[in-house]
This record gives sequence, structure tokens and C-alpha cells, in this order.
Amino acid sequence: MGANSYEKPDYWSKKAFQEGYPARSVYKLKEMDEKFALVRKGIRALDLGAAPGSWTTYLLRKLDGTGRVTAIDLSPLAKDVKGDNLSFFQGDLYAPAIRASAAELGPYDLVVCDAAPATTGNRTVDTARSSGLVELALVYAEGLLVSGGNFVVKVFQGGGEQEILKKMRALFATARGFKPEACRAESFETYLIGLGKKGN
Ligand SMILES: C[S@@+](CC[C@H](N)C(=O)[O-])C[C@H]1O[C@@H](n2cnc3c(N)ncnc32)[C@H](O)[C@@H]1O
Repeated sequence: MGANSYEKPDYWSKKAFQEGYPARSVYKLKEMDEKFALVRKGIRALDLGAAPGSWTTYLLRKLDGTGRVTAIDLSPLAKDVKGDNLSFFQGDLYAPAIRASAAELGPYDLVVCDAAPATTGNRTVDTARSSGLVELALVYAEGLLVSGGNFVVKVFQGGGEQEILKKMRALFATARGFKPEACRAESFETYLIGLGKKGN
């Protein structure tokens, strides 16, 4: 495997292409949705770090014209990612103006964050940046999720998952880690899931 699995389209990349998703990462959300029942018709979902848009596409397909998806990324979505019930904001999740735009369309039943820092190859730096994004996603979730809402966030392993899970357990009825099958074998990413946001 090693470098080859990045060079050659693998099983998940081919499947994503055939099924009209712009990235293989869709199968991670699909698996988490199938296991934790995250997405249902009519919900308002906030997708943080959404480009090129496979998670957004999955959400739009499953909502089937109902509810709303708000997506945010530094980069644009792929051109085919569209929907009357989609709002996209291009910008930095750390920017107050972007947070205000997300808040205007909230509150949300589901916040998902697949944001990942541009990696440097230095594991310590990359993991610290990933943890920063996780903390930020948690701020979005805390402020913008309805009571009973759900949350999914990507974290690089070794990025203080236990500390983050501790914070999530204060906010959600259930919080746990989950590594989807579709994660690359050599990848050190994993996901944290918060179910049932507690009321104020
Ligand atoms: C792995 S990709 C997301 C893939 C997406 N879930 C999909 O299925 O198409 C990670 C994304 O996080 C975005 N990102 C990283 N840091 C960000 C930030 N500070 N603000 C907004 N987006 C950010 C990157 O631009 C990148 O598009």
C-alpha cells in the first residue's frame, strides 16, 4: 500500500466517481450516518470544511429537497454541488463574519466538520492544527445546535481526543470516537461523535 494507494484510484475513490460524489470521503459520513442515524429529511445541517463537497452532496441527496444545508470552506465547492436548499460561504471558519453568516441560517439539527489543516508533514504541528479546528467546530456546535442536535468532527489521532471527548460529554448525552472503514489504512484521522445536545 503506502504511497501507491494515494497514486492509484482506490476502491472508495472509484466508487465515489461512479456515484457522482466529488471525493471518497463521502463514505465516511455515510457509514457514520448508517450507524448513528444522523441525517433525516427536513433537518438543517451545517457542513464545516465542506469542499469539494461530497459530504454536502450526501446531505443534499438524503434531504431530497427538504431542510437546508449550510456549507463553509476556504475553497469553493465543486461546480456540480448545487441545491435550492444549499447555502455556501467561502471563507475561514475562524473569521467572525463567517460564524455570523452560519448563525443567521441556524440553529441546526446537525453540525459536521471534516475540516483538515493543510498538512506540513510535521505530525506535532499538523495534530495541533487539527485540534484547533476541532475546538473551533465545538464552538460552532455549542452555539448553533438545537437541543437534541448531533455533531461529528474529524480529529488527527494524538490531538487530545480524550480531552475533547470530556468536553463533548458535558455538552452531549453521548460522546464517543469512531473510525470509519473508509478511512485510509495509513491515515491517522478519526472522528468524534456527539449525540443529543443537552438543553441549556
Ligand atoms: C478533507 S477536506 C473536506 C472534504 C469534504 N468533507 C468532502 O467530503 O468533500 C478538508 C477541508 O477543510 C477545509 N479547511 C481547513 N481549514 C479551514 C478553515 N480554517 N476554514 C474553512 N475551511 C477549512 C479545507 O479547505 C478542505 O477543503
